[in-house]
Amino acid sequence: MKNIAVTGGTDGVGRAVAIAALRRGHSVLVVGSSAAKGRALLDEAARNGVGDRLEFIAADLRLISENGRLLDELHDRFTRLDRLVLCAQRYRTVWATTSEGIEENFALTYLSRFILSYGARDLLVKGDDPAIVNVCGTGTPIGRVQWDNLRFTVRRSGFSALMQANRASDLLGVAFARHGGDQGVRFVLYNPDFVRTNLQRKLDQPWRTVALALVTVLGKPIGEGVRPLLDIMDRVPQESLSAFRGRHRIDMGSRVFSPGYDPTDARRLRSATDHMLAEQGRQDLRSS
Ligand SMILES: NC(=O)c1ccc[n+]([C@@H]2O[C@H](COP(=O)([O-])OP(=O)(O)OC[C@H]3O[C@@H](n4cnc5c(N)ncnc54)[C@H](OP(=O)(O)O)[C@@H]3O)[C@@H](O)[C@H]2O)c1
Repeated sequence: MKNIAVTGGTDGVGRAVAIAALRRGHSVLVVGSSAAKGRALLDEAARNGVGDRLEFIAADLRLISENGRLLDELHDRFTRLDRLVLCAQRYRTVWATTSEGIEENFALTYLSRFILSYGARDLLVKGDDPAIVNVCGTGTPIGRVQWDNLRFTVRRSGFSALMQANRASDLLGVAFARHGGDQGVRFVLYNPDFVRTNLQRKLDQPWRTVALALVTVLGKPIGEGVRPLLDIMDRVPQESLSAFRGRHRIDMGSRVFSPGYDPTDARRLRSATDHMLAEQGRQDLRSS
């Protein structure tokens, strides 16, 4: 039996991962911001006779403080963690900041995943064949990190901020593999590629209409989108970092994709993130 934590496990891809893990006999902890969605999942698990292996924690992972609290809760509950699956997501194409002053896409798509990946590392190194699976938009070489404007307070473009957050999430994998994977914790970047979930419904207009049209034409049912991910979770590649778009392995060294996985950028972002956390008074959540 594995111990598996799934952020964003109350809906869409994360929910399907959580249910599949319960069916396979694992112990699962799910995180989401809505208590009602958590309750619904707990009820479904109870009806299926697996409720004793599921726990739900409500947390708004846009907030640094909430990620810190979640790490405390993980350490209270587990002595080892085998899989950390990062799915919590809500795209913002209108510029907005959290109550802690962090741009919202950066906060949820990247900073939360940074804090949880490094903060749970001590539990993961004790795990069985441990891995972090970052479910994200990897393999989409759009957008760039704006080094002089990481918080997007200078040019307030929600769409550029969203694209920056996606690039940052890839760089997290590269940085972690270099400064965390050495202890046997592998990092997988996985893009499920157009799956019919609630993600597109939550977009701001006009992107919602565009995304819903695209997903109606190109989108896969959730079960189909999650199947390759479940296979990867069962047999995690040996490399410290791997990236997939559905079943297809992304060649991170290729001319098209390599700029998005640049080790120098990854190191720079890790250091900038540690600095940002220190500025927020959370030295304890830095990567080292
Ligand atoms: N669907 C696609 O076509 C697609 C394509 C490419 C990549 N992806 C990636 O796949 C991952 C999963 O997406 P999905 O399609 O499954 O999305 P989804 O159906 O909208 O589910 C998102 C999950 O994140 C949780 N969440 C949202 N905001 C949160 C917050 N502030 N704090 C904690 N949890 C929060 C939601 O729960 P609450 O509502 O309770 O907060 C829900 O459980 C994402 O990382 C996304 O980037 C999806």
